[in-house]
Amino acid sequence: MNKKRLLSGLQPSGELTLGNYCGSIKQFLEYQKEYDSFLFIPDMHTITVPQKDSNLIAERTRKLAAIYLACGLDPDNCTFFIQSEVPAHNQLAWILECFTYMGELNRMTQFKDKSKKYKNIGCGLFTYPVLMAADILLYDTNVVPVGLDQKQHVELAREIAQRMNNKFGDIFVIPEPIIPTIGAKIKDLQYPTKKMSKSADDANGSIFLLDTEDEIRRKINRAVTDSDGKVWYDEENKPGIANLLTIYSVFENIPLKSAIERFEGCERYGDLKKAVADSIVNALKPMQEKYYDIIQTKLVDEVLDKGRERANKIASEKYDIVRKLVGFGR
Ligand code: AMP
Ligand code: TRP
Repeated sequence: MNKKRLLSGLQPSGELTLGNYCGSIKQFLEYQKEYDSFLFIPDMHTITVPQKDSNLIAERTRKLAAIYLACGLDPDNCTFFIQSEVPAHNQLAWILECFTYMGELNRMTQFKDKSKKYKNIGCGLFTYPVLMAADILLYDTNVVPVGLDQKQHVELAREIAQRMNNKFGDIFVIPEPIIPTIGAKIKDLQYPTKKMSKSADDANGSIFLLDTEDEIRRKINRAVTDSDGKVWYDEENKPGIANLLTIYSVFENIPLKSAIERFEGCERYGDLKKAVADSIVNALKPMQEKYYDIIQTKLVDEVLDKGRERANKIASEKYDIVRKLVGFGR
């Protein structure tokens, strides 16, 4: 029996953070056996906002593929590929753009947020969700595991797919988002009401997956908490503590409730911080060791070459169907 398909991707827009691990990679690991998984690197999405150094994009792309492998994502279960190596993504995106309404894109909260940050906004930032819909729909994707901030984009992909299906017959599978029950929005350690991000201005707020043990411990120690002096879980009034408890539960692989029970009432934030740092270090160390091995070998390129072949075959077949249906050709 054919497995259902999963597709997701992490942009090479910065060094991966704990947030990416909790919101994405952890789910990929959980689901990789159950689904035929397509894990790609959406480099075309990365140039939707200005990049300081374009050389870094390719470098981060390779690193990201090596991190996928080092985390335990298995090339026998997963197809890894780079978006810009599969032309059908932009080919389909153009067609889908013509079937997406301005109003729909105007409503995207990520566009609203990001467009406030830059002076001159490229059109690509506006149409980005359509490219993402193409990414998903080309592969008959059933499920899309993402963090909470991407849910609205997956919903738009469903909307566009449905619209195209109504007009042209059943072309696309309607994808479902999968959002993690905990860790869908890990917060910045310095500004615990904001999302931890690859591109935060203050690097003390984000733990990167390749941070050294010392850096991890230092950042957790400095994490902003509150002056109340007792551990309990209250996202609104104690966001720093709530975030640490969430990170702990993800890395210990225990329900949030158990993490809360373990520390509730504890009067030394230092104890909680030490436990959180231990837990992150224990999880990341073996991954980092593997990473530094893998990045030296040809494995990354072999896996990406194989992935490019398979992705191109599937995506170009789908594009060909859509292209004819909308009337292109002779
Ligand atoms: P980004 O880093 O914004 O390119 O996001 C890549 C993926 O990681 C998306 O699925 C996000 O939803 C997820 N993600 C990013 N940051 C976080 C975070 N702080 N907490 C949970 N998930 C996140
Ligand atoms: N937009 C996603 C992000 O910034 C990355 C992405 C692009 C993606 N295309 C996708 C995720 C398709 C899932 C499916 O995180």
